[in-house]
This record gives sequence, C-alpha cells and structure tokens, in this order.
Amino acid sequence: MSVKNKSTQTPIWSKAFAQPAQEFAPTPLAIVSGTVPPSLRGCLYRNGPARLSRNGQQVGHWFDGDGAILGIHFNSPSFGGEKPWAVYRYVRTAEYEVEAEKGKFIFGGYGMNPPGNLWDKLTKPVKNAANTSVLVLPDQLLGLWEAGHPYSLDLETLETLGLEDLGGLENHQSYSAHPKRDTATGDIYNFGVTPGLNSSLNIYRSNSTGQIQQKGMIPISGLPLIHDFVLAGPYLIFFISPVRLQLLPAFTKLKTFSDALSWRPELGTQILVFDRSSLQLISRQETEPWFQWHFGNGYLEADGTVVVSLIRYEDFDQTNQYLQEVATGKTRTEAKGRFWQIRLDPKSGKIIDSYQLIDPFCEFPIVAQTEVGKASRFTYLSVHKPGVDISKEMLGAIACFDHKTDTLTVADMGSNCYPMEPIYVPDTEDPDQGWVLTVVFDGDRNCSEVWIFDASHLDADPVCRLALPEVIPMGFHGTWNSYN
Ligand SMILES: [Fe+2]
Repeated sequence: MSVKNKSTQTPIWSKAFAQPAQEFAPTPLAIVSGTVPPSLRGCLYRNGPARLSRNGQQVGHWFDGDGAILGIHFNSPSFGGEKPWAVYRYVRTAEYEVEAEKGKFIFGGYGMNPPGNLWDKLTKPVKNAANTSVLVLPDQLLGLWEAGHPYSLDLETLETLGLEDLGGLENHQSYSAHPKRDTATGDIYNFGVTPGLNSSLNIYRSNSTGQIQQKGMIPISGLPLIHDFVLAGPYLIFFISPVRLQLLPAFTKLKTFSDALSWRPELGTQILVFDRSSLQLISRQETEPWFQWHFGNGYLEADGTVVVSLIRYEDFDQTNQYLQEVATGKTRTEAKGRFWQIRLDPKSGKIIDSYQLIDPFCEFPIVAQTEVGKASRFTYLSVHKPGVDISKEMLGAIACFDHKTDTLTVADMGSNCYPMEPIYVPDTEDPDQGWVLTVVFDGDRNCSEVWIFDASHLDADPVCRLALPEVIPMGFHGTWNSYN
C-alpha cells in the first residue's frame, strides 16, 4: 500500500527532470507515424534547462538549470537530405565548463547562491545559464539568457563558439531572451536591465545580422523583473510589474535573487511606451498590479489604439514558487496564468479596456513570426487540460485561439504526455498552409518525440510523429528557421 502511495505521489512529468538530459550528435530520426510534409523545410530550435543536478547537488529553481539546445532539421539541404535529423547539445558557457571539470555546482544563479563560505558566496559570479530561448542569425545561433550576453553557437552542429556582444553590448549590459523581429525590415529589437542603485532599461535595435545599430536607455526606479516586452506597429511597450529586488539581501547573498524579489502591489504596473524608430519614451502610465512573464503579440489598430495579448497572473509569488518547485520534481502551488487582451492609448499609455479571452490556465503564447507586431488572427499557446489539479501538473496540451471567431481549438496529447511551447511554421509552398510543431515528453514510455500538426486541424491527429533519441526535458522557448 505504501509503495502504491509513494508511486502515485511522484508526478509522471518529473521523470523528464529526474536526471541530467543526455546530449546527442546529429542523429537521423525514426518516424513513429505519418510522414513529414515535403514542403516543411527548415530547423526547429528549442532551448531549456536540461541539467537540474550535478553529482547529487540540486539547483534552487528551474531557471538555474544549464541550457541545452535541440535542433531538428527537416528536408535539410546538407546532412540527412530528406531524412529528418536532430542534434542536442549543452551550451558550453564558461561557468558550465568549470563546473563540468570540477564535477560540482560552483556558481550562483537565479534561485541558488554559490555553495561554500561567505567569501565564495560573495566572489563567485552568477552563472550564465543560456537556457531560455534562441535567436537565429544568418551565420550563428544565439542561446539567450536575460541577465547576460548571449552565447553564440554553430547553426548546424550547435557547437558553442563563445560569448557574443553583437557589436554593441557593453560588459554590464544584458540581452534578454525575448527579442522581437520585424520580418518586413529584418530589424531585431530587444532590451536588457542593468542593475544598480540606479537601474536602467536599455533598448537595442539590431539589423538582420544581429549587429546593434541603435540604443536607447531610460532610468528605472528599483530593480524590477522584466522578462518580455511588446512590439506593436511603431511602438515598443513595456509593462513593468510591481516586483522589485531587495538589493541588500540579494547582493550580500543573504537571499537568492528569487527569494529577494518581493511583490509590491502598491507600486502598480508601470506602462512605458517607446517610439521604435527613435527609441524615445512617448508615454508613461501606471495601472493596476499584475504579473506577466509573456506577451502573445501587439499591434496598432486603425483608430490609433494598440492591442496587446499576454498571460496574466494575479501576483508574482505564486508563479515563481511553482516554477521553483518544478526543479524539485513535485509542485504544490497553483500558478494561474490567464490569457488576456488589453487595449491602450499609446499616446498616454492609458488602458481603454482589458479582459480575459479563454478559460483554461495557460502559458507560452506565440504567433506566426511574420505577424509579430501586426494584427494576428491566431495565437498558439500551451494550456492545462480540463479537470487537472494545476498545482500538481505541468501544461498538458497545446491550443490555438482564433481571435476572429473567439474559439479555442485544443490538441490533447493524451494522458501523461507533456508538449512544449507550440511553434507555428509556414509552409514553404502554400501560403495558406501552416504547421504547428511541438516536442512532447511521453511520461508513460519515458521518451520524447516531435509532433507535427496541420495548423488548421489542431484537434486532428498529428500528421507526423518522430522519435527523438533521448528524453528532452520540458523547456522554455524555441523558434523556426526556414531554409532559403
Ligand atoms: Fe520567456
């Protein structure tokens, strides 16, 4: 009886994190079912924390895991030809290399301080985990992490090439994990927060090669957590949630960064609207408190208002606590992420209206890359399955919300299967055809697969399932790169 109780208390999803993920060299993928669409030509890249322990030491938070990047190539012009293949490599950051050599965690992170004595704690730098997202540039892939410089990798082999300053990042300047690309101009926008007694929000515009062409900067009070921002037509919009770092406990290592972030609802949410061509502030406004990690999209309406979609939480503490618990393999906190839409006046920053769009709790909203910053009919996202105890579960389905018909189409992955953020991929031959790709962990079979859905029939069976050689732990963000 006790054995049964014990087994039912261990969530199936935690198997994906039970041991450090095993990287693998370029490997042809076996087809489990269906066929790869011939017009699907490109590479799906995904990033996420893949090592949550080292020789018995556990990370303090899911965000502390060492990043590993998965590349899955379809109809590749080089290796493999028509046969799909994949490669999975840890990002060899400087700190990762030291820890791998020593066989133990040495550095601090978001939710963990360096082990050892006070001197060790105060002198060891924070590890660049390079675990959050990726950015494809013409001659390199960037592994992104919001508190440091990106790491450059080879687009095909995923070999780590080193830190990248994009021709403009100073040492203290970070490059966040949610850059926005305008596919019409090729320009890439991103930001980074520089901490200090007088913190600053730095905004960058890069050309299509990633080289920084223009910078903006605005002082901000305190040290907030800013994870994502919005590109909406001619505007860049930041919603600064009322989370502030307690500087003294964090920098004297009395607390981890995660524990030193305090929810300050009295500060409200600060809305900052920037002109994207000048990177100058247009308006600043304060509204009610909430927290968000992610925005779905933003766009300018004909009447001059701006529409923004996001996953909104009532506060910071619950979602951060849940994400910390993921690293322990067992969660107990409800993180209620709700998909919302906001309309605001960019000239004043004032919100005109805002409301919840769908019922299921959800995360990872995303639109087609060509529609970033523009009106987009469909938002793809990960959702909780109906009826599950969300305090104990991870996101168990992907879905598509149609903003025109106000309908949600869900792709249920079946029991004990956990999909990652869905990525929309345009068909290279038919502009009306698209595919939705997700990497799925099957907890019953303890394996990972790539599932390809017809984007217009997300509730039908996937058109193709491919077996991956190793378990890929659930991670954060990915992108698609079409072969030219
Ligand atoms: Fe993110």
